[in-house]
Amino acid sequence: MHITLRQLEVFAAVASNLSFTRAAEVLHLSQPGVSMQIKQLESAIGLPLFEHVGKKIFLTDAGREMFTYSQGVSHLLDEAEDVLETLKGVQSGKLAISVATTASHFTTRLLAAFSQRYEGVTISLDITNRESLRRQLENNEPDLVIMGQPPEGIEVESETFMENPLVMIAPANHPLVKKKNIPLTRFENEHFVVRETGSGTRGAVQRAFDQQNVTFHTGIEMTSNEAIKQAVEAGLGLGIVSIHTLELELETKRLAILDVEKFPIQRYWYILQRKGKRLSPVASAFKEFVLEEASKFIRLPK
Ligand code: PGA
Repeated sequence: MHITLRQLEVFAAVASNLSFTRAAEVLHLSQPGVSMQIKQLESAIGLPLFEHVGKKIFLTDAGREMFTYSQGVSHLLDEAEDVLETLKGVQSGKLAISVATTASHFTTRLLAAFSQRYEGVTISLDITNRESLRRQLENNEPDLVIMGQPPEGIEVESETFMENPLVMIAPANHPLVKKKNIPLTRFENEHFVVRETGSGTRGAVQRAFDQQNVTFHTGIEMTSNEAIKQAVEAGLGLGIVSIHTLELELETKRLAILDVEKFPIQRYWYILQRKGKRLSPVASAFKEFVLEEASKFIRLPK
């Protein structure tokens, strides 16, 4: 049986998503490219791995067996990589970090300071939202993740290292800027420029409004905090963002934080990894660095 690691990787992506399209997205391949790899794998094995029923695909018995073995191979390779990273030590290892979109506003500063201290380290940073971080943790992809509240339903080892206050923002000349302790109900008919579903910020804001029985009307949806700030500044609506995203806009007085009852919504930043994951020396050093020194490098705007 002649099969390649690449074919196994493609097969595992199709099998875990039960979708050729989704697997192609995850692997950054074309869908015909994915189908081709699966066809080659099936012909090397001599058995079909998937069956098509209507629009859905399912694993055949051979597919299920193969999935178990492909996971075993992938764990072995991960383990081999961990062991090799350990041998390289802190000075020349690799570090793969995934962070929530909002955390990218300060993570780059942390990585800069860390890589100055450990010059030989190669760092890769993936910036994505909460839902996607959850998937990555499930697949045990990153060494470490920085996000708001750790995800439910996955066992992780997490520690908190900093506050993450969410504030309501308006253009600097907005009539509510001078008002004190504005009741939340005042915003019942307001349409907010919001982050996408799946963002931690969006979820926390929705929960905060629900807790006060105030309807939260969402207007335009955006996947970037930068875009939200620009939209608010342009008068497209009010926004709610982490204070970490605001340093420049507050300094230049282009945006103002409104003094709203029950605000800021208090969240915290966590650094975490899958439970039982063996951290490489570089990953351990980075985690320790974040827990002990993050506050030195990140100032919250006043
Ligand atoms: P977000 O995450 O960028 O996905 O909103 C931040 C958070 O979890 O608070």
